[in-house]
Amino acid sequence: MAREPLFDTLARQHWVVADDLIDPTLHEGLYQDCLQNWDTGNFHEARVGHQHSSSRESEIRGDSICWLTPGQEGSASNEFLLWTDALRQDLNRIFFAGLNSAEFHFARYPEGRGYKKHLDQHRAQPHRRISLVLYLNREWVDTDGGQLCIYSPEDVGRELSRILPRPGRLVLFRSDLIHHEVLPCAKTRWSLTGWFRSDRDYLRL
Ligand code: OGA
Ligand code: MN
Repeated sequence: MAREPLFDTLARQHWVVADDLIDPTLHEGLYQDCLQNWDTGNFHEARVGHQHSSSRESEIRGDSICWLTPGQEGSASNEFLLWTDALRQDLNRIFFAGLNSAEFHFARYPEGRGYKKHLDQHRAQPHRRISLVLYLNREWVDTDGGQLCIYSPEDVGRELSRILPRPGRLVLFRSDLIHHEVLPCAKTRWSLTGWFRSDRDYLRL
């Protein structure tokens, strides 16, 4: 998908799926970086806020995450960060979106886990403007589950789409408008998730 139809769709429906934006070599490199971070023990359990106990939390959100930091020059993570920065600048040029920074993490959902319906922009994260998800698994079929459900911005009870986390698939959506959910997966689900933000400098808590 070329950039223009992608941006048109994002502007019109507030979410968009693209299957051929990420180069397959970069996709494979990111998957390897992700697995290496997992093997090195760089992941930790994701949190949803401070109001829940951790057992309750894993029912709401079952993934572990590892934040991306600029790696060695030429590494897949670095290349990805450069790529997303160009995307951020395009979004600003076309939409005057006021996106000043970005943050990304690898995510791993073990079998049986998902993430209940939520919005990415909330009181604790007011600066998240555009969410990005890239799916890293090499293979994914219908029966593997783990679909991303997109709900209507006008009626959050109405499901609009179930997106299968297919290899290299990328989803962009408005963090303030799109409620979404990750259905439980039937095998380990690897992804890269992040946000383009309106603030410039922030402390990650
Ligand atoms: C998230 C999220 C969606 C996905 O991490 O906030 O909603 O498909 N991820 O992994
Ligand atoms: Mn989310």
